[in-house]
Amino acid sequence: MAGFLDDIEPLKQAALAELNTAPDLAALDHAKGMWLGPNGKFTALMKQLGSLSKAEKPTAGRLINTAKVELEIALVGRREELELAAVLPKESTDFTLPGRGRTLGKLHPLTQVTEDIIRAFRKIGFAVADGPEIEDEYHCFDALNTPADHPARDAQDTFYLHTQTATGLKPAGLRLLRTHTSSVQIRVMKSQPPPVRIIVPGRVYRRDNADATHNPTFHQIEGLYVDKGVTVGDLKGTVEFVFKELMGGDVKIRFRPHYFSYTEPSYEIDFANALVKKMGKDWLEIAGCGMVHPQVFENVGYDPAIWTGWAFGFGIERIAMLRYGIDDIRLFYENDVRFLKQF
Ligand code: DAH
Repeated sequence: MAGFLDDIEPLKQAALAELNTAPDLAALDHAKGMWLGPNGKFTALMKQLGSLSKAEKPTAGRLINTAKVELEIALVGRREELELAAVLPKESTDFTLPGRGRTLGKLHPLTQVTEDIIRAFRKIGFAVADGPEIEDEYHCFDALNTPADHPARDAQDTFYLHTQTATGLKPAGLRLLRTHTSSVQIRVMKSQPPPVRIIVPGRVYRRDNADATHNPTFHQIEGLYVDKGVTVGDLKGTVEFVFKELMGGDVKIRFRPHYFSYTEPSYEIDFANALVKKMGKDWLEIAGCGMVHPQVFENVGYDPAIWTGWAFGFGIERIAMLRYGIDDIRLFYENDVRFLKQF
């Protein structure tokens, strides 16, 4: 008995020494097996308990159990130390190094211009309306007084959508990508009674080849104002106000007679300021507009004997190019951060 009890303490000390100094997790696992595993040296000591006499067992059992608990505490403690060491950086941190800068994104120049235009129109009571980019011929052309044989359709050729059927591709009831935001005029007027005071920013499509001033997708803002007794004077005053808000005080606006099938009379709006002069021009054409054609009112169920109105549409890219002095429309779509960062 004395021999057995005397063995416990040195064995425990040897085991503790090994567990506490294990250099890494693998060594710790190995030490655990050597001492506490099924064939471990400490386990062997516990197995001897069975051969002791009834009188000896309680003391020996208590000593062995206490020792075992100590070994297990040491094992867990060392494991935590080693695991922590494994995840800590190998080199110490240099707190004097400069921090890593985080670059913040910003709004695309076209979005910025669109938001500024919306803000200007909100000041005078216009609401923003929206419509689908995938349109039908009715909203894009027919309801705007532009029937299938109308020459204006050639200038606004677009992409037509087809549906796949069992027997091949079929035109999907002539669905198309809208060529202008004017289609939303029809949708809004059909959905509400007059008066109407809306602007419609949105993406439009044309079958154009990309060059410095054209792109098959671009953006427009449509405006529509319907009430009693609306005049060309209201239209001109509104356009002048908005362009002064956007481009500054030295802006001049000129209305030139033109033709659109959904307005009568119709005009093109020319714009002049110092920047246009710098480009070597006196005027730059920026928008189409006019008084809403009575036929359009008929088409949406408004009585043209009661209601009058004006409409306009202009390209957002055009405004952004003028505002920032950009000479190639394609730059807007290339997502080159060197370009985008400048705005
Ligand atoms: N939809 C025309 C275009 O895309 C622009 C336009 C002209 C819109 C006259 C109008 C308008 O609302 O009255 O070129």
